[in-house]
Amino acid sequence: MPQAEIRPDRVPRHVAVIMDGNGRWAQARGLERNAGHRAGLESVREVVRAAHDLGVAYLTLYAFSLENWNRPKEEVSELMRLLEHYLEEELAEAMENGVRVRSIGRLDRLPPSTRRAVQKAIERTRRNENMELLFALSYGGRSEIVDAARRLIREAELGVVDPDRLDEKTFAAYLYEPDVPDPDLLIRTGNEYRVSNFLLWQIAYAEIYTTAVMWPDFRREHLEAAIVDYQARERRFGQTSEQVTGAGAVGDDSSVGGEGEAVGR
Ligand code: FPP
Repeated sequence: MPQAEIRPDRVPRHVAVIMDGNGRWAQARGLERNAGHRAGLESVREVVRAAHDLGVAYLTLYAFSLENWNRPKEEVSELMRLLEHYLEEELAEAMENGVRVRSIGRLDRLPPSTRRAVQKAIERTRRNENMELLFALSYGGRSEIVDAARRLIREAELGVVDPDRLDEKTFAAYLYEPDVPDPDLLIRTGNEYRVSNFLLWQIAYAEIYTTAVMWPDFRREHLEAAIVDYQARERRFGQTSEQVTGAGAVGDDSSVGGEGEAVGR
């Protein structure tokens, strides 16, 4: 792996990660799938530290999808146990590094002990300001949009929202954590090229980076390689290359229209 040369002024503000490949990593070693999840926890630790060190402001990790509830009971229990363990173990380090923990998803479906661990981490770290670490838990992108629509319809019925004046900005305010900016970089490990119902609304203009590295093998240098690759991209937000080079490329989204539809692909 060549030494990454990251431009500190162009570090993506928000990096979102689909951590894939734990099961295949384990199977390739003749281990049970849960061994892959346990190994994946070490990658979570390292990537959180690395993102913090690199100056990433928001890191969102897809830890458990709504669809993951359909996995075998033992696997779901192990994932919940690992999450609780991680949150308890890493709380001190989060406080030391100023990392604020947050969560998106249907948390009401989590077992009570997991929910308590998540809520405790959120509560304890809520004043931390160096990096925001979001766990997508019991999360589905379509469900997030449905949940937003449900709340919006209720407010429209109460007369708080006028359907004729509804625009993208107003709608987005009903999503789970609306103050979090959209991801700039979406990383998927494990040699797959799917979005898997992750942050469907928010990734409209994210740069996508995929790698064959299985999540348990993903280390600091892999995150750095993804950021170097991102920094070589030209983010056009639907405009022409000439237009954006005049305005600045990666990280400069000042030219994006408020409503989005106007700027195209
Ligand atoms: C996908 O691998 C990964 C998951 C479903 C869960 C991610 C969980 C961890 C990294 C462990 C602990 C996490 C936290 C946040 C403490 P897969 O099982 O779908 O892999 P496969 O595609 O090879 O089967």
